[in-house]
Amino acid sequence: MNCGRWRRTLDEPAANFWDKRAKQFNESMTQNRERSEKQIAKIELAPEYTVLDVGAGTGRLAIPIAKCVKSVTAIDPSRGMLACLKENMERESVENITHLNKKWEDTELGVDIEQHDVVIASHSLAMPDIQDALVKMDAASKKCVYLFTFAGRWMDGGLWEKIYDEKRSSWSDYIYICNILHDMGIYANVEIWDSEFEQHYAGLDEAVTKLKETYDLPSEKEGILRGYLSKILVDDDDDDDGALSLKRKSKSAMIWWQTNTHEEA
Ligand SMILES: C[S@@+](CC[C@H](N)C(=O)[O-])C[C@H]1O[C@@H](n2cnc3c(N)ncnc32)[C@H](O)[C@@H]1O
Repeated sequence: MNCGRWRRTLDEPAANFWDKRAKQFNESMTQNRERSEKQIAKIELAPEYTVLDVGAGTGRLAIPIAKCVKSVTAIDPSRGMLACLKENMERESVENITHLNKKWEDTELGVDIEQHDVVIASHSLAMPDIQDALVKMDAASKKCVYLFTFAGRWMDGGLWEKIYDEKRSSWSDYIYICNILHDMGIYANVEIWDSEFEQHYAGLDEAVTKLKETYDLPSEKEGILRGYLSKILVDDDDDDDGALSLKRKSKSAMIWWQTNTHEEA
């Protein structure tokens, strides 16, 4: 698995990494509501359920889920992401989410949180010991655990290879997670579907600045990014205001299992 450079970015504490990106992440996610709706439609929810969202971020899933269930607990180490979650809750008049500003690995079951009916973790499997994290998610759920991640190449459409001249596979590719679960005696269900992610920019300069920040690219790589973006960005609409959009395709994966039904590892 080749994830060296991206991992280096993640050596920065998760909280700092996401604090810096919170506003941009929040903005881009509000441009992609359909993606969230598609994800939520796959989760079995009921009005009496309690849901635990591990790495809830800005509440992209926690907020719409809270409207369908009794309550949601949102755990996230980034204050910046949680600040967006609180703003989004207010804007959407959602009051049944409690948040905990902690890393999942530092969260103690029975002390910080109780068991919930459903546990979800969406694009947040960045824990250094993923098996430990999965064991705790399984223990924290009374009914079902749902994990969302990618299958195959992540959403950069080859940008990584162009910049670093090396192939990159994500450590959170569904296949690794399924293997770890299998070792734990959990034979999880998997669903994979095509996903499209669209992002709008005022122009090429804004796209370069924002993506440079997202990928944490060193300045000497900016030219490669600019060249790549100038080829793939498309005009947003017919008027001549210079607005551009970036459309990226990827494969999304949902891994899910019912808890307390698997064999002892
Ligand atoms: C890509 S965002 C996804 C947010 C949200 N789940 C979603 O799907 O929109 C990743 C989130 O995982 C959180 N995260 C990173 N490491 C974590 C950890 N060790 N424990 C809990 N959350 C973590 C980050 O702070 C960030 O908010």
